[in-house]
Amino acid sequence: MIGTDLAQAAALLRQGKLVGIPTETVYGLAANALDAQAIASIYSVKNRPSFNPLIVHVPSLAAISMYAQHVPQALMDIAQAFWPGAVSILVEKSNQVPDVVTAGSVKVVLRMPRHSLALELLQMLDFPLAAPSANISNTVSPTTAQHVEDGLGSQIPYILDGGSCTVGVESTILGFENGKVVILREGGVSREDIFAKTGIETTPSSEQTIQSPGQLKKHYSTQKPLYIVESINDHIAAHSDQSFSALLYEQREVDATTHLLSENYNLGEIANNLFATMRAADQDSTDAILIEPIREEGIGRAVADRLRRAASTFIS
Ligand code: TXA
Ligand code: MG
Repeated sequence: MIGTDLAQAAALLRQGKLVGIPTETVYGLAANALDAQAIASIYSVKNRPSFNPLIVHVPSLAAISMYAQHVPQALMDIAQAFWPGAVSILVEKSNQVPDVVTAGSVKVVLRMPRHSLALELLQMLDFPLAAPSANISNTVSPTTAQHVEDGLGSQIPYILDGGSCTVGVESTILGFENGKVVILREGGVSREDIFAKTGIETTPSSEQTIQSPGQLKKHYSTQKPLYIVESINDHIAAHSDQSFSALLYEQREVDATTHLLSENYNLGEIANNLFATMRAADQDSTDAILIEPIREEGIGRAVADRLRRAASTFIS
């Protein structure tokens, strides 16, 4: 059921049930992060491998000291600068955080979402919320309550409707390796944003492959193939036996069923519309989805990352 009743959402969470919650990035599938049994049901409802840990959502900066220890100053500074916001930090967990949340790791990912309903809900509760994106594993992340309903509606009692997500791609996950802040997942806050606001340089993590199944290929998949092609028009011309949906970064003519991600190549808009547009193109009666490579700067890097994972094949 979809609704806006915070008290009902809180009551269900206190009973160890799952609730779909809005955040600024994507919708989350939330449960009491301190309740191992509630956490187990997140894994089963999402069909998520048990080795893939969950992000813990907290109501304040002060909560970091409850659920983490020995937090590097640079990550503290970044949280201070961006929370609430689309930055998550990977830090050593305190013993309050059950092992199931971190899939056995001594580190936990913490995040304070920038969404008024999510923050109100977190403030009503005396526990933090573990919440992965509210989709079945290996499908497109949800950016509206209806997307959550479409994927998981029959399996969860309540979805809190907070409107369309304003960022549209998941949070940036930052860790700390060899005295430096590293990016484990590109996301809603770009490395340019981080540098501009804090003066802290970030680099891609060297440990990407083991860290984060978010880095597994085919994580954000559409039903039909999605191809990243240098030229949509050339691809269409070379495959006249097939029909295509095209995702466009700006207004232009192509001989396909078109979906506009932005009027004029605005990267923020493109990120914001990406997942909903991938879903819409999946509904077209076409054989495949085409998109050209995106400009990899700012939030464009997160878009490029999600596209690479969604793409069945690379065609240059
Ligand atoms: O924006 C977001 O971060 C959204 C909203 C709902 O907050 N959440 C989200 O969660 O994207 P999820 O579970 O779909 O992606 C979390 C990523 C996964 O790739 C997971 O492997 C990684 O974070 N992760 C979580 N805890 C971790 C840990 N302790 N160590 C390493 N990676 C971790
Ligand atoms: Mg996810």
